[in-house]
Amino acid sequence: MSVSRPPFYVTTPIYYVNDKPHIGHAYTTLACDVLARFKRLDGFDVRFLTGTDEHGQKIEAAARAADMEPQAFTDRVSESFRSLLGIMNYTPDDFIRTTEPRHKTACQDLWNRLVERGDIYLGSYAGWYSTPDEAFVTETELVTGPDGVKRAPSGAVVEWVEEPSYFFRLSRWQEPLLEFYRTHPDFIAPESRRNEIIRFVEGGLTDLSVSRTTFSWGVPVPGDERHVMYVWMDALTNYITALGYPEQDGDYARYWPADIHMVGKDIVRFHAVYWPAFLLAADLEPPKRVFAHGWWTNEGEKISKRLGNIIDPVDLVNTYGLDAVRYFLMREVPFGNDGDFSHRAMVGRVNSELANDLGNLAQRSLSMIAKNCGGQVPQPLEFTPDDEVMLGAAQAMLSAVRAALDRQAFGEALETIWVVVRQANAYIDRQAPWVLRKTDTGRMGTVLYVLAETVRRIAILMQPFTPNAAARLLDQLACKDDARAFGALEPSVRLVPGTELPAPAGVFPRYVDPESAETK
Ligand code: MSP
Repeated sequence: MSVSRPPFYVTTPIYYVNDKPHIGHAYTTLACDVLARFKRLDGFDVRFLTGTDEHGQKIEAAARAADMEPQAFTDRVSESFRSLLGIMNYTPDDFIRTTEPRHKTACQDLWNRLVERGDIYLGSYAGWYSTPDEAFVTETELVTGPDGVKRAPSGAVVEWVEEPSYFFRLSRWQEPLLEFYRTHPDFIAPESRRNEIIRFVEGGLTDLSVSRTTFSWGVPVPGDERHVMYVWMDALTNYITALGYPEQDGDYARYWPADIHMVGKDIVRFHAVYWPAFLLAADLEPPKRVFAHGWWTNEGEKISKRLGNIIDPVDLVNTYGLDAVRYFLMREVPFGNDGDFSHRAMVGRVNSELANDLGNLAQRSLSMIAKNCGGQVPQPLEFTPDDEVMLGAAQAMLSAVRAALDRQAFGEALETIWVVVRQANAYIDRQAPWVLRKTDTGRMGTVLYVLAETVRRIAILMQPFTPNAAARLLDQLACKDDARAFGALEPSVRLVPGTELPAPAGVFPRYVDPESAETK
């Protein structure tokens, strides 16, 4: 029987290559990686895209500051984003760079479609521009600080720009966009962002400047090479470039519209207003969903270069371990809210949840099996109601976790799993297999079977979050590679009694402060 695998296309923003990756970048890509891994295990044909945003004034300036040619500079910085993939164990299917020839073709084709449809015209721009945000800032958005300096809402200093410019007729897409939001209630999430965007569009849209002439690091406007395309128009197009656009068959036909564009809250307007407007105008389909996550602070402080408190994901991984970092970021705050990164919170989660709750559960169960059941999956006798409740809870996780992840509620998904982890710890304490060892070995085997089967289901579901530890747990349960996808969570699939198990070993180490470890 051939089973059809539905397509699932998930994208990260493409990252500016003006600086090396930090926790914000690692976070957005992690969320996408968890989703991509989950969907693959759930039988989807996943396309997961990430990459780097390499054009524009900001990058050109960063290259100049580094005394390098923009191409050589972007080659170098882009590589540091690519290397983060391996460090964080991300599994994208493609990595796009906007300086690639395939991207220029896609951008110019989209531009031409917009021109053909009458949505682009030549004019001139006179107004404020924020280079750090690569955004035009209106008078009403301007914030003048006590120092008299004019800033964008992001806090970035703006500059006055006057130059000839092509404009996109965004104003004429106001009503169609509002209609699109009405008919696609899941298009923007969370709800607060949706409301914010709807209010913004209802407030009126003015035409958008989509080309620049005062620098040249960008995709040339077809037919008028004094202009380069506005970097956001260039950047957003990456999502279809990577599917082979302008070809509209093949990958584009299969994966577009994207199931989800994952973005930070600061760039939701570009994804939820400008991008669908460009696509509607070009007679292409908008993506299905844009999810805007919150921002991390560091020990309560806004993260900024100026404060020197940027969190380097590589340092985090070296300090706490990869699985711990992945777990913490997905668990600590409800996805969509802002969150605070602190050493205390991190250590608390690692030690109490990973090491104690799940690590001990697995270790206690598996080492009892190793010692008392000849290192084989024990043969269960008849299940008691308590056993059945435990097995039932383990079995019910998948649908609840799936529903949570379909709303990008990563924390809730983990909480669903943790309810079962805690339940299993209570079950082992109640059943006390170490007492049964002396009184009723048949019953002991049954209890250990229930526990091992519960751990198997937990480990399968933990693969997207903590891939290394989950794989090691599944190794210890002798689960074959082809028995790790969610098909192995069907009620009919259970551990086979008599299966030889390798020697157990802990998979979630406790975090021990290096200083206190030395003084011991
Ligand atoms: N190049 C644009 C995106 C173009 S997509 C067509 C861009 N790049 S970025 O490198 O500045 O940022 C990428 C992502 O990092 C954004 O989603 C942003 O929200 C996220 N973060 C940056 N700092 C962050 C935190 N402190 N916390 C969480 N995410 C943060 O924008």
